[in-house]
Amino acid sequence: MRKLYIETLGCAMNVRDSEHIIAELTEKEGFQLVEDPKEADLLLINTCSVREKPVHKLFSEIGYLNKIKREGAKIGVCGCTASHLGEEIIKRAPYVSFVLGARNVSKIRDVLEREGAVEVDIDHDESQYAFSDYRSSPYKALINISIGCDKRCTFCIVPYTRGDEISIPPELIVREVERAVAGGAKEIFLLGQNVNNYGRRFSDRERKIDFTDLLKMVSEVDGVERIRFTSPHPLHMDDRFLQEFATNPKICKSMHMPLQSGSTRILRRMKRGYTKEWFLDRAQRLREMVPTVRISTDIIVGFPGEEERDFEETIEVVRKVQFEQIFSFKYSPRPLTPAREYRDQVPDEVAGRRLSLLQELHLQMLDEISEREMGKIHQVYFDELKPGGYVAGRSDNNWIVKVKGSEELLGEMRAVRITKTGRLALEGEPVA
Ligand code: SAH
Ligand code: F3S
Repeated sequence: MRKLYIETLGCAMNVRDSEHIIAELTEKEGFQLVEDPKEADLLLINTCSVREKPVHKLFSEIGYLNKIKREGAKIGVCGCTASHLGEEIIKRAPYVSFVLGARNVSKIRDVLEREGAVEVDIDHDESQYAFSDYRSSPYKALINISIGCDKRCTFCIVPYTRGDEISIPPELIVREVERAVAGGAKEIFLLGQNVNNYGRRFSDRERKIDFTDLLKMVSEVDGVERIRFTSPHPLHMDDRFLQEFATNPKICKSMHMPLQSGSTRILRRMKRGYTKEWFLDRAQRLREMVPTVRISTDIIVGFPGEEERDFEETIEVVRKVQFEQIFSFKYSPRPLTPAREYRDQVPDEVAGRRLSLLQELHLQMLDEISEREMGKIHQVYFDELKPGGYVAGRSDNNWIVKVKGSEELLGEMRAVRITKTGRLALEGEPVA
């Protein structure tokens, strides 16, 4: 039996793409998944190119894999860096057997047989493709609802690696949800670069269905207990969507609201489509409608032209919204993107200082946010064993909560009273 090793970097979309690749290779090609790259006959790396760092790491990683791999084993590079570098990867690293772009996952079996293959077509339509089943967690199912992104935010490489946005037909999504539930998953995680733009374009016909309709459809599937999704775009957070989010009991009360910047001037240069005021209005509305909601966000500091006063506006929004989680990044110029050409790039040390300021402020906020959880009761869905005799899971509003326990709690939903708080996770005891 041939053995497959796969390493996945980047976002949830990549995790799901890796699952598709594993399914195709194990179910149709007889591969067996292994954890040790030294044992493998095929070594895959599913890459991310959203910032420069992971791209640098790619070449050192495949160099390492090439050194330790078995004689005759093949190396393949998949994902977003495969899309944007294409055959350059094979030029720089001739021992790579094939390059498979983020929008070409369905061609994995095909490239396997073609030494030197480069499949990186960003028009390739995978929206109707029936992949086999493989899930890395039996408890939660990642399900794609769209591929690509039409937004073209001026800093972002994703539209150039994953192509234009196409929505997956709702009946295919519902069928996937039914299969996942039949396999034991209680939680469904809907995935897309821009989920609440769902329905913008279908490949084969004119359909009239949006993300809110899709949420209703998915929540009507028997056996679905929880629905999460990522990532929504603040621009498309209309009242109807917020209303469904607030009132549908199956939709988990955690929302990702990628801010990027708190300055309308910078948001305009990023081509985000909303203003600071719109963002604040949506966040406030959300907090009013769902008092238990936890809001996470993505912030970029040091975007070209960002001045001190713009950064201060970002800080102001952070203070006002009180995000429970912040993923913050220093702006990284990316190939193919317009912002890379802007003349007023911010010096690295300025961006670095802003990043530290933002992160320090948020750490202080997190202390207050987490202390408020003491004594509260959360409904926790357990899915992971932790060292020291603990089991962990997520609350409805996406806190990581651990309790003393073992396997018998996996896949179970329990009420837990919080007895210990921390910035990133909570600890508690099941309520009898
Ligand atoms: N809509 C996507 C966004 C993908 S990129 C989603 O599903 O989340 C994830 C985050 O990376 C973005 O929200 C942004 O904050 C950050 N990012 C993207 N391009 C970047 C760049 N050039 N430099 C720094 N951070 C970037
Ligand atoms: Fe990137 Fe903006 Fe789309 S961040 S993935 S271009 S919504």
